[in-house]
Amino acid sequence: MIFGRVKSLESILATAERKSLHRTLGAFQLTLFGIGCVIGTGIFVLTAAGAQKAGPGLMLAFAIAGAICIVAALCYAEIAAMIPVAGSAYTYTYASMGELLAWTVGWALVLEYAVAASAVCVGWSGYITGTFLDHTLGIQLPPWLASAPLALGGAPGGFINLPAVLIAGAITWLLMIGTTESARVNAVLVAIKVTALTVFIFLTLPSDQFSAAKFNPFLPAGVFGGIGTGVGAVGAAATIFFAYVGFDAVSTAAEETKNPQRNVPIGLIGSLLFCTIFYILVAAGAIGTVGGQPIMGPNGVPFPTGSEELARQCATYAADQLPLVCSNEALAHVLRQIGWSKVGNMLGYAAGFALPSVILILMYGQTRIFFVMARDGLLPERLSTVHPRWKTPHIVTMMTGVVVAIGAAFFPVGQLADWANAGTLYAFMMVAICVMILRRTNPNAPRSFRTPLLAIVGPLTIVGCIFLFVNLPYQAIIVFIGWALIGLVTYFVYGKKASYLGRGIDVDGEAPPVAH
Ligand code: ALA
Repeated sequence: MIFGRVKSLESILATAERKSLHRTLGAFQLTLFGIGCVIGTGIFVLTAAGAQKAGPGLMLAFAIAGAICIVAALCYAEIAAMIPVAGSAYTYTYASMGELLAWTVGWALVLEYAVAASAVCVGWSGYITGTFLDHTLGIQLPPWLASAPLALGGAPGGFINLPAVLIAGAITWLLMIGTTESARVNAVLVAIKVTALTVFIFLTLPSDQFSAAKFNPFLPAGVFGGIGTGVGAVGAAATIFFAYVGFDAVSTAAEETKNPQRNVPIGLIGSLLFCTIFYILVAAGAIGTVGGQPIMGPNGVPFPTGSEELARQCATYAADQLPLVCSNEALAHVLRQIGWSKVGNMLGYAAGFALPSVILILMYGQTRIFFVMARDGLLPERLSTVHPRWKTPHIVTMMTGVVVAIGAAFFPVGQLADWANAGTLYAFMMVAICVMILRRTNPNAPRSFRTPLLAIVGPLTIVGCIFLFVNLPYQAIIVFIGWALIGLVTYFVYGKKASYLGRGIDVDGEAPPVAH
């Protein structure tokens, strides 16, 4: 029963053939696309949360999360080149494990895309309120407009994060009228982000203020902080995993790639390796100059990020004495602390300028997932209605915008990122399982790329994802389970009966009516 209603690979591939997109992307463009999706709030903002969880062990955390993403990427590369159609992990699961599990993956992807978009909105807001409003214009937003409520992990006096809501609204509008990012715009934004991080590395690592002593103790909260505590190097890895979320978007471009056998793996793995090395160097520069020891609670364990206690502790510091772990604009803050205020502001502008494109890609991904699920009949068909003039699925886009704005308004970035990670880890794990199942069920289907050593890489991905998942804070695990239960109820009340596959209607031969 649980594995019932498996969609045939042939029927899914018929979609791809009808769409027959032009194969224009090469390895370099694909790598740029990957980097464009990946570099964002994770490195620019969550560096602070990661340091609060692991101290200098944050560097190890980046390496652990990066390694798990690389094995996951190897699995993605095979299946994306084999089933190059919209819907990503949801579609792969439909083809290998059936509708119910596909539904759970689609439901989890709401966390990966919509909730992650909320997190990036909040990260953007930190840079805009800090660098642009405060440090440039000298305007301080009243606390109630600048942050989530304290009880939900925001700052004292916080109520709503207005800039985060505004950017969510603006991006929703752009998507509704049909804006997508061209490869050229992406290349410019990648150049801005990479330049900002390179300048950061060159100003911090050779700085007079850099000292090896700042890395001592290297693991103030240990390697394993304990299941569900969210601290220690692996707890930080589970959070900082967010910095890599989005690389799977490369897989969605498989159908538009020249020689996917060679280029999709290069794009996926190249962008991840590049980001992993950059992230570790940035973390080393930040911690080596201003230090990154966590603020410890009375029991010698770091205060949880997003907790009221930590917010109260941080509120006791003067702005120019703020520890790294308290900053909302971590990298700009480091540069200001070491005497590069103007460059710090420029880095802040770079983040303010480039992060909206990450929000756009994530929200676009969400609308596509909802769209494909509606096209399969698992969500109301009305959601896939296309606007007559804009030619976009405007209803589903509006719905996504409302969800993203609510998340951005009332929750802090660290919590949103942890929830997004929970959903993403589930989806990555399912992709690894799909690859292994399809090798057995469809051994002769054409595979332009084969995951090397799948018997090792597949299980490693599964174990790695479960490992990070259980090292998320309890709260994120509970949110994931609650969300999954709501999803299951929704499926049995609505999707199971409405499903086109269940009703024997084949819709896969049709190209999706989304113009972009
Ligand atoms: N990896 C993306 C970011 O860090 C989602 O913003």
